Amino acid sequence: MQWGLKNRLSRIFNPETGRTVMLAVDHGYFLGPTRKLEDPRATITPLLPYADALMLTRGILRNCVDPEGAIPTVLRVSGGASIIGPSLAAEGLTTSFEEAIRLNVSAVTMSIFVGTEHERETLLNLSKLVDKGEKYGIPVLAVTAVGKELEKRDARFLSLCCRIAAELGSHYVKTYYCDDFEKVVESCPVPIVIAGGPQLDTFKDTLQLAHDAISKGARGVDMGRNIWQSDHPVAALRAVRGVVQENMKVNEAFELFESLSKG
Ligand code: R5P
Repeated sequence: MQWGLKNRLSRIFNPETGRTVMLAVDHGYFLGPTRKLEDPRATITPLLPYADALMLTRGILRNCVDPEGAIPTVLRVSGGASIIGPSLAAEGLTTSFEEAIRLNVSAVTMSIFVGTEHERETLLNLSKLVDKGEKYGIPVLAVTAVGKELEKRDARFLSLCCRIAAELGSHYVKTYYCDDFEKVVESCPVPIVIAGGPQLDTFKDTLQLAHDAISKGARGVDMGRNIWQSDHPVAALRAVRGVVQENMKVNEAFELFESLSKG
């Protein structure tokens, strides 16, 4: 792997642990002002010290994150569909590598929609993105999107999606945790990080999800709603960080969450 790619990846994945805690705040690109992300700057700012990287669009980066900050960014470069439109899968590429370089990003990311009518288009866009990423030394994160069909999140489907993303050259892949998750990891030759999905019933469930994913080979999380829709987002992120970066057990991380929530 070339030096620039390695250098940027090492800004996202802590070189000491090989893991990452990415904070996903890109939801507005198809959901608009999502609950508790209505004012992105207010949501993001207190969380910055505890995230290894931010995943977001250029609009939120430019307007809601100070350029003086040192946090590495993963720029979402796909979009074009909305939650009220005909198909969430109808995404295209929304910006260029020139823009990614201007914004000094550490990686770019796009969604692929395997098994949908837009499969071919999104997979070929991923290939084009990887070609450019290799040219400029910018890693590409593929997101194995399921749109509104959350029930698709099983090991067979996610293994298919992750493997295709890796075969097309993605430098790492974001997917969902599922039963038999180790099979998804084993059949994907590049690192996998997991999304959190919609807010779970309890925060302990979130910690369990992160713990199970890491113990079955995930290299980190790229979580959004289970962090910033919490009543205590900083405590939530610090506890998830404890699991991912400090090998905390679920109960230990939950105790940290509770003590920080009271503070
Ligand atoms: C979805 O495609 C978005 O890119 C989110 O970044 C992703 O779903 C992770 O956020 P959450 O943990 O809220 O699912």
